[in-house]
Amino acid sequence: MFFPSTANMCEQNNTIIVSIAMTILLLVAFFCRIKKQAAMAAKNKRKKQPKLPPGPATMPVLGNMHQMLMNKPVFRWIHRLLDEMDIEILCLRLGRVHVITVASPEMAREVLRKNDAVMTSRPASFAWRAFSFGYKNTIGSTGDQWKKMRRALASEILSPAMECRMLGRRDEEADHLVNYVYSHCNNGTVDVRHVTRHFCGNIARKLVFGRRHFSMPPPANSGGPGHDEGAHMDALFTALDYPSAFSVSDYFPALVGLDLDGHEEVVNGLLNTFGRLHDPIIMERMQEWRALRRNGVERREVADFLDVLVSLEDAQGNPLLSLDEVKAETLEIIIATVDNPSNAVEWPLAEMVNNPNVMKKAVDELDVVVGKERLVEESDIQNLTYLKACIREAFRIHPYHPFNPPHVTISDTIIAGYLIPKDSHVMLS
Ligand code: HEM
Repeated sequence: MFFPSTANMCEQNNTIIVSIAMTILLLVAFFCRIKKQAAMAAKNKRKKQPKLPPGPATMPVLGNMHQMLMNKPVFRWIHRLLDEMDIEILCLRLGRVHVITVASPEMAREVLRKNDAVMTSRPASFAWRAFSFGYKNTIGSTGDQWKKMRRALASEILSPAMECRMLGRRDEEADHLVNYVYSHCNNGTVDVRHVTRHFCGNIARKLVFGRRHFSMPPPANSGGPGHDEGAHMDALFTALDYPSAFSVSDYFPALVGLDLDGHEEVVNGLLNTFGRLHDPIIMERMQEWRALRRNGVERREVADFLDVLVSLEDAQGNPLLSLDEVKAETLEIIIATVDNPSNAVEWPLAEMVNNPNVMKKAVDELDVVVGKERLVEESDIQNLTYLKACIREAFRIHPYHPFNPPHVTISDTIIAGYLIPKDSHVMLS
């Protein structure tokens, strides 16, 4: 047998050890290089990836929620942050949600025009869900549901034909308004807010339900609101405060039901009021149209917006809208018709009262266009250029809400060079 000498064995061992050491060194060098390359790539990626918009420092999990809870009303705190940080775009993190506020016209254009397709979603929240009966109206829905409700609203309810058909009802309400102001004008003063809000409420009920009062016969007073109409307006204007009220459970949905900020109790109370006042009218009308369909009777002409909603049919001749969709859309139209339009009367009037020269010019224009022999009519509006300019100016200097209803991004996007992650709530200030 062949046995290597001790010297040979030592030499062989040394060679093996050197080879192993070399291999280890090579491997270490190789891994170090890969790690360095990976670190460089990550650094480059970080460098290229746009940053989130500026905002206050966040805490783990809570984000800025603790600050939000300590700074009420939240919209004032957000405006203060924008001022103090001297920025036009702000990022807060409330729970897992990035809430982005945009406060410049250029960036607003980027949100609404350039990124329109990415901003198509709306936030999920207890109040939005409640008032839209499960995201079934236009403003709260997305995707196919939004297309369906938007088509019903834009093509059927707000169509030029319907506008013409409803002219008589609007004129009737304008006459009521003039009579009411005339008979309630104490020493030359009138409560503009009371009058405009109830005028818009009467118009809304007349156009949607075909009646200005809930109780039949109407309350025996001088054309003003009865008890139910007062409760209706109070509920509508209270409801407006809740969909974007920064409720804690909107950002931590697991907390829904605990009602930590008391919003759920108020919203449920409002839903009861709307249900008590709207539901009997809606149910009765749905039954009437169901009977017309069942009996194959020739359909009568639609007389109001509710008729339009319950008479719409799908391709098979079945009702297009479910009960919840009809409830959601009627409530949406009524809220939209009393809120912004009543502000659109109140602010320009307030500005004109404080600027007598402007008021005089507007009155002079009325005297020229309408004259003193008759009352102003809807058809005069196109010729009242100065008055329309005053209304537009009031829109500009008095935004009606601190923020637009939030849009939710359906994918990552960029605004003003900043990263706006998917599922962010984007608000225009
Ligand atoms: C002075 C009058 C009005 C003003 C200033 C106004 C203002 C607005 C604003 C700022 C939005 C949010 C747009 C956005 O998504 O960022 C909006 C949405 C909407 N408004 Fe109005 N509005 C007025 C009257 C009305 C009326 C009379 C109706 C219904 C009859 C109405 C129905 C709606 C609907 C359905 C949406 C949601 C649209 C959608 O998400 O596709 N609005 N409005």
